[in-house]
Amino acid sequence: MNERISPARVIKGVVNVPGDKSISHRYAMLAGIAEGETSIYNYSTGADCQSTLACMAKLGVEHRFAEEEGRRVLKVQGVGTHGLKEASTSLDAGNSGSTMRMLTGILAAQPFQTVITGDESLVQRPMRRVITPLAQMDAHIDAREGQFAPLTIYGGPLHGIEYHSPVASAQVKSCVLLAGLFAEGQTVVHEPVRTRDHTEIALAELGAEILVTGRTVRIEGGGRLVGKPLFVPGDLSSAAFFIVAALMAPEGDLTISNIGLNPTRAALLDVLRGMGANIKLLHIEQANGELVGTLQVKTSNIAGGTIEGATTASLIDEIPILAVLGAVSRDGLIVRDCGELRIKETDRIATISANLERMGVSVKTTEDTMEIPGRQKLHGAVLPSGGDHRIAMAFSVAALAATDGPSTIEGSEAASVSFPEFFETLSQITS
Ligand code: S3P
Repeated sequence: MNERISPARVIKGVVNVPGDKSISHRYAMLAGIAEGETSIYNYSTGADCQSTLACMAKLGVEHRFAEEEGRRVLKVQGVGTHGLKEASTSLDAGNSGSTMRMLTGILAAQPFQTVITGDESLVQRPMRRVITPLAQMDAHIDAREGQFAPLTIYGGPLHGIEYHSPVASAQVKSCVLLAGLFAEGQTVVHEPVRTRDHTEIALAELGAEILVTGRTVRIEGGGRLVGKPLFVPGDLSSAAFFIVAALMAPEGDLTISNIGLNPTRAALLDVLRGMGANIKLLHIEQANGELVGTLQVKTSNIAGGTIEGATTASLIDEIPILAVLGAVSRDGLIVRDCGELRIKETDRIATISANLERMGVSVKTTEDTMEIPGRQKLHGAVLPSGGDHRIAMAFSVAALAATDGPSTIEGSEAASVSFPEFFETLSQITS
């Protein structure tokens, strides 16, 4: 599908974004292995999170969507930590790395065999990063060429390990912690930098014995989880597209309500404020251990700057949209230590720079850096998504800020991986 987007002067209104993708995956998996029914409010509408539900259904976890006082609620019938059943066919994680990597941690501990695969992007993404620690726990996993899906997981008893993760990846950490829940003894994960901690929060919320100290997480094996009502905050990584659209617009004034503000995810807001963004916090509260709030964003002069090290890791999903902002900022944007972008849904260093260049913007890249000089003009262009949701959405926002002519986003349907309502919401706030 193609979407034609014209430049817009005004970005105004109140928006809601879908439930957080990362949290939705975790709630669906944990509710499935918890005891009793779990009601999940505001579950992500994105295709990735439907893939997780479909995989859990194949493993014998029933779910249904219901309506409660006008709210859509997902009801998951938990089967307990010993209740998953062998799937009769292979599991399909679709485009979702989180589904495949985190579920593999659970599946490695089951008393049955599972094959898990995905779409043409996912079967090219590295899985050795989860196979290595799981093998140390005594898991048996076959992968294509030793590192790619399909994965054949020969489930069996696991033992706890102490793992120093070489990669800054919440998916790897979560995979090991989920395996640790089933393992004998204690499992300890040390991270190189702090990554999103939704798994730790959700496990504690449902009753697991888990302790976080700095960049170290400990979980006791053999624990049980008990279902309870869970509320998913709006996805800050999805809101990021609208935040940047409002900052860049000549007349931007946007309120974003019910948005997740977990500190391990909110680096984007700190970085933007440090660059001069007018972003106000109107309200904040807690739900199931996660911070949720309302933000107001207004047109701002953005200075630009450098993002590196732990900060890069903590806003890795927001770099496509920050790169767009960098091009129109005063001093430009330098992003260092972003090699992980090369193994996302696309090689994002390549897809971001190719599309910026199509819009007439100059970019310099290396294996793990991007340098985008500031004060550049964006020109309307034909912009392929490459099948990557965040590229489709980042360049839709770039198209709004173009100084001349409409743009065409090719493969715009990719947005539905995390945000099926993206183009509809965009049209409601632009004029
Ligand atoms: C995610 C972690 C990040 C992120 C992805 C979601 C998660 O991936 O890019 O969109 O939910 O844990 P890595 O763990 O590979 O960095």
